[in-house]
Amino acid sequence: MTDTSWWRRAVVYQVYIRSFADGSGDGIGDIAGLRSRLGHLRDLGVDAIWINPWYASPQADAGYDVADYRAIDPAYGTVAEACWLIEEAHALGIRVVLDIVPNHTSAEHPWFQSALAGDPEARARYLFRPGRGEHGELPPNNWRSVFGGPAWTRVVVPDGTAGEWYCHLFAPAQPDLDWSNPEVAAEFEDILRFWFDKGVDGFRIDVANALAKAPGLPDAPDAAAGGPFVHPAWDQDAVHDIFRGWRKVADEYGDRVFVAEAWVEGERLARYLRPDELHTAFGFAFLGSSFVASVLEESIQGELDSARLVGAPATWVISNHDVVRHATRFARSQPDHPFTSHWDQDRWGAEEPDLALGLRRARAAALLTLGLPGTTYLYQGEELGLPEFEDMPVEARQDPQVIQAAGKVIGRDGCRVPLPWSGSTPPYGFGGAPTWLPQPEGWASYAADVQETDPDSTLTLYRRAVELRAKLLLHDDLAWLSAPDGVLAFARGDLQVWVNTTGDPVALPGTLLLGSDPGAEPGVLPGDAAAWIVVTGA
Ligand code: NOJ
Repeated sequence: MTDTSWWRRAVVYQVYIRSFADGSGDGIGDIAGLRSRLGHLRDLGVDAIWINPWYASPQADAGYDVADYRAIDPAYGTVAEACWLIEEAHALGIRVVLDIVPNHTSAEHPWFQSALAGDPEARARYLFRPGRGEHGELPPNNWRSVFGGPAWTRVVVPDGTAGEWYCHLFAPAQPDLDWSNPEVAAEFEDILRFWFDKGVDGFRIDVANALAKAPGLPDAPDAAAGGPFVHPAWDQDAVHDIFRGWRKVADEYGDRVFVAEAWVEGERLARYLRPDELHTAFGFAFLGSSFVASVLEESIQGELDSARLVGAPATWVISNHDVVRHATRFARSQPDHPFTSHWDQDRWGAEEPDLALGLRRARAAALLTLGLPGTTYLYQGEELGLPEFEDMPVEARQDPQVIQAAGKVIGRDGCRVPLPWSGSTPPYGFGGAPTWLPQPEGWASYAADVQETDPDSTLTLYRRAVELRAKLLLHDDLAWLSAPDGVLAFARGDLQVWVNTTGDPVALPGTLLLGSDPGAEPGVLPGDAAAWIVVTGA
């Protein structure tokens, strides 16, 4: 591998800013809190942070509804503070990646407000269409919102009568932009430059695969008919022209990076990673794997194959702000297929979680994820072994998914709980109380300060793994090794990564460098554990 760009093998830490640390004392995480905790990230050894949207927003979808892309939400701070943060992070050798939300704006964005007021130029930046039916009373097509219900809302025109419908693939408060309008493309290139000029090192692209819609916005095929997912709103070929334009902008600034959130796989994912498009894209098949060796291996191989098609690095992620934390996903019996149906939550309802087992497996998964070739994203709190807050009362939940489904789905708040830093009761050193989402009782043992000094803690394990990875895991290749059933093993040059997804111990063939189970006997890999080893003469 001759290309040694930093983003090909970085460890990137996802900062869910609302829940990372609160410097102002209002119970909401902010830039001041993040700046005060940069030492935690330095000590963890990460190369970069990705910060979830921090722009001015009514927070209908936790900041993924942006009202002003060039302003910081007052709850988080100011543009000046953002610049200080970027400088301070850089001084510690930590790059800063922002989250850009190009598929939709907030309904409170000035463009959409002008569109509602009838300005034709502003309307042409969104997807307004007449309704079907005799009086336009039916949505223009059959598209569904990801959060439930039709992907269309009818507006009331200034004279008080019902007007056209606008498209929103997510909440009604998130109207979709019309990317076939050059004004939209020009605006976003300008926004990229605004932040690149302030020193940011890249962008995570929200729903990158939704920007281009099929001309004429036709009905989606009937999903019940089966076959591969094909939809006129998703993964349209025209999207690639947009990213070719973005790549040109990034290249003007040097070693910047894009990482796509695109829920596509295989060759379709590789298209986003062609050399003149995006640098990286999350491998969501890996995130969807159960803790079962064969399922993990298949997903890993799939990611490697699609990235290799175009010479891109694979990008690993095992938790984020949209899914149940993996310490809880792995705390119940595991299906021998990827998780489905909203993380198999229906099935889970009947099974109590075994959080100790979930944590053992999560620690093993840390060594797996950090042992893979490519870039690895860590989601804040996973270095503390945090579980999902499954019992969060429904009244406390704020996810629009919960609201749109009238409380019938559990939503994503349980993985977004403010971090525990210290102390034995909420807010655990997070900042002011009450926190914007409640923290559970009983999280004292997860607090960062308790784990800091414990050589066997999950935080210590992550720190050692990140440090060793930077020093030792330099090969960009992976070779699968034969291993007993239920055990995953691969070599990265002289190093081997072994992951035992069974409940029974197996023999380890080499010298232990780092193990997820501090109580393991020498030469043994216990069940639900992982190890990095060196095998002399292998
Ligand atoms: C993906 C983001 O990760 C998620 O949190 C958000 O709700 C949707 N995109 C809509 O922007």
